Amino acid sequence: MSTIVAPSLLSADFGDLRKDLEMINRSQADWLHLDIMDGVFVPNISFGFPVLKYVAKYCEKPLDVHLMIVQPEKFIERFQELGVSMLNVHYEACTHLNRTIFEIKNHGMKAAVTLNPSTPVCMLSDVIRDVDMVLLMTVNPGFGGQKFIEHSIDKVRELRRLIDETGSKALIEVDGGVNFETAPRLVRAGVDVLVSGNTVFSASDPEAAIKTLKELS
Ligand code: DX5
Ligand code: ZN
Repeated sequence: MSTIVAPSLLSADFGDLRKDLEMINRSQADWLHLDIMDGVFVPNISFGFPVLKYVAKYCEKPLDVHLMIVQPEKFIERFQELGVSMLNVHYEACTHLNRTIFEIKNHGMKAAVTLNPSTPVCMLSDVIRDVDMVLLMTVNPGFGGQKFIEHSIDKVRELRRLIDETGSKALIEVDGGVNFETAPRLVRAGVDVLVSGNTVFSASDPEAAIKTLKELS
């Protein structure tokens, strides 16, 4: 399977979002990654439903939503209504994670659990068979353009082992500091899905940057 590439809209030009969405549609990107922040779970606020409505309207790629919010279970239905494909909730934000995973699936979306850099992979042992994807944060969530946390490579390997040992079908996605130097190492360690904001949107040719990331498998 070739590497799935999901550009993160957080680094796009919000003054001309249509242009960047058209670039994504033309490109080899597989999904579009959307970062929702509430200023409580993370020390930043991004964008919400009024923006998402238009992103969903103009983007032709599946939407991979990363919820950096407290009590994400409150909004499952709203994301289903938008036609979202993948809904990522943080392990650290869910008191009843098992229930939340099944609610997402019962609403027809793929369910993913996200781990902060400080949360160990072993915390997933009781949900790994139930999730469609695990998103490993490779920076502390909240901002684009941060430096990759090196320990993440070991974490990817550990997660790959857990998935193989349990027969889980979960994909491994990474998010934060993914660039042309870290991406090949992440793919070799077992990553299936690369999220990339800054590397794609600050490139002089974003479509070519997406193509380069795609060809890493
Ligand atoms: C950070 C977000 C990321 C962000 C990644 O909290 O979850 O999706 O856009 O940005 P880069 O690729 O620039 O590190
Ligand atoms: Zn993200």
